[in-house]
Amino acid sequence: MFLYVIFIVIFILLALLYLVFKIISPKCVELQGSHVLITGGSSGIGKALAIEAVKQGANVTIIARNEKKLEDAKKEIESHIKDRAIQRVFTTSVDITKDADIVKEAVNKAEKELGPITILINNAGSAVAGRFEETSSQQFQRMIELNFLGSVNVTKAAIKGMKENNGGRIVFISSQAGQVGVFGYTAYSASKFALRGFAESLQMEVKPYNIYVTMAFPPDTDTPGLAEENKSKPRETILISDTVGLFSPSDVAKSVFTDAMNGKFLSYVGMDGWLLCTLSSGMSPATSVVDLLQQIFTMGICRFVCQFYLFHFDRIIGKCKREKDSKMKSS
Ligand SMILES: NC(=O)c1ccc[n+]([C@@H]2O[C@H](COP(=O)([O-])OP(=O)(O)OC[C@H]3O[C@@H](n4cnc5c(N)ncnc54)[C@H](OP(=O)(O)O)[C@@H]3O)[C@@H](O)[C@H]2O)c1
Repeated sequence: MFLYVIFIVIFILLALLYLVFKIISPKCVELQGSHVLITGGSSGIGKALAIEAVKQGANVTIIARNEKKLEDAKKEIESHIKDRAIQRVFTTSVDITKDADIVKEAVNKAEKELGPITILINNAGSAVAGRFEETSSQQFQRMIELNFLGSVNVTKAAIKGMKENNGGRIVFISSQAGQVGVFGYTAYSASKFALRGFAESLQMEVKPYNIYVTMAFPPDTDTPGLAEENKSKPRETILISDTVGLFSPSDVAKSVFTDAMNGKFLSYVGMDGWLLCTLSSGMSPATSVVDLLQQIFTMGICRFVCQFYLFHFDRIIGKCKREKDSKMKSS
């Protein structure tokens, strides 16, 4: 009898939780005719996000520095447009790490061209990979300026319009290295972890304005940016990254887009992405009752499973060090 009562009470509590979430959770945004602004939209994940946006009927602004790359990307994105009569792609060349006023000017110009921003995607970024003592202070500074402060600049420029418009979505493209510190990523991981604190604080501030923030944590994705990063990657970092595998920009873009439209705070791709998001959900905003319950019940087991990943990474690092030591002895 006692167990029966407990079961009924738990059931009623879960049903209440579900109803509360149904009422307070963000509604899916309509993309048809909306304006999606993407930084770093001329290459890799950013370009795939822009293609996904136009396929769903949105107007798109892409921001990057290199004008030729912007023009080429514009043509490619336009070839995926759903309705050529009404949709447009606008490009603007600006370095998001420079003067905040210049960034604001570029965002205002985009708003004038394509209307208020519905979804802002802070995607522009890059990675340096190298052992800590081989990573220069300038490289640390560059990572913070581009991956963190660049996103702050663009978000600052767009937030006023979003508040006036009473709604929108802001996406930050972090990385799985923004959830777990990885060998060789002291500078990159630090810059991506910084985004998380910023995004959680910002979400609390902008929720009353019907603005929802999404933190996306892509795994390794087959882009020109990754190819560049691979040139300087320590062997340990390569072997650790191989554990997760390589994803296509379009798969990553589809998943980020769906999550952003639905106002989900944590966005992941693949099984390892799910594991890391569950484990690092912490005090992040709960935007879905299903995700919340799953996190409550599986966080412990995910911590247990991830410990085996850490053992594996330590073994890789130990093996590489032994190989290096014996090479040095024999030379
Ligand atoms: N690829 C991966 O494996 C992977 C995994 C996890 C997370 N990510 C993250 O996903 C994002 C995109 O990565 P990706 O691999 O697609 O990079 P990518 O192919 O190198 O593209 C980077 C884009 O950002 C632009 N950009 C770079 N610096 C800029 C600046 N100062 N101002 C304005 N635009 C700038 C680039 O154009 P210009 O050079 O012309 O400015 C380009 O359009 C990054 O934040 C990255 O950290 C990537």
